[in-house]
Amino acid sequence: MMKWHWLRHLQPSQMKDLQDLYQMEWWSKGRTLRQIRKMLQLSDLLFAAVDADERLIAFARVVTDFTYRATLLDVIVHPDHRGKGLGRALLEKVLSHPRLRPVERLDLFCLPPLIPFYKKMGFQADRLGIVRLSIDPKQGPSALNRNFKNIKRRKKRDAHRA
Ligand SMILES: CC(C)(COP(=O)(O)OP(=O)(O)OC[C@H]1O[C@@H](n2cnc3c(N)ncnc32)[C@H](O)[C@@H]1OP(=O)(O)O)[C@@H](O)C(=O)NCCC(=O)NCCS
Repeated sequence: MMKWHWLRHLQPSQMKDLQDLYQMEWWSKGRTLRQIRKMLQLSDLLFAAVDADERLIAFARVVTDFTYRATLLDVIVHPDHRGKGLGRALLEKVLSHPRLRPVERLDLFCLPPLIPFYKKMGFQADRLGIVRLSIDPKQGPSALNRNFKNIKRRKKRDAHRA
């Protein structure tokens, strides 16, 4: 039987393990150690499982206001340890965290193939049809400017036609 234990903070070697895990997934490929250190410092709750040799084998984190909203991010189990109940144990660890109990709702994002996994853990798909809208903050002001210019152009054209 596989043995693991939980940590609240990652040591530098485990940060490197996390970086290696991130390189294996399309949604986290390319993340640098510098970014990872900052993310670990600023995330609200960290969940990390290590094996007997203290190597990181599972990770998840939560970003939250501890009141209304919480978002579960970066759920990941090392490929060698998948299918053995570690993902379930990780989610149970998250869902039983006492500081998340008062939170109104815990959300996550995933692709359709993973919906059955999260449903097994009690998550439900959105019934209201709420969709995810995203923007790259670096593009924010220029996207706004673009939009503004389009509106001005349209108004000018309409005035010309009138
Ligand atoms: C998704 C992931 C965390 C699951 O971890 P795991 O350790 O393999 O999961 P477990 O062995 O604890 O499985 C728990 C249950 O979910 C089921 N399950 C696991 N992966 C599943 C999947 N991809 N689709 C459907 N069911 C799945 C298992 O069959 C098991 O069911 P059971 O309890 O009825 O036997 C792991 O596959 C992973 O790290 N994937 C890559 C990273 C990723 O995509 N993360 C999600 C980002 S949203």
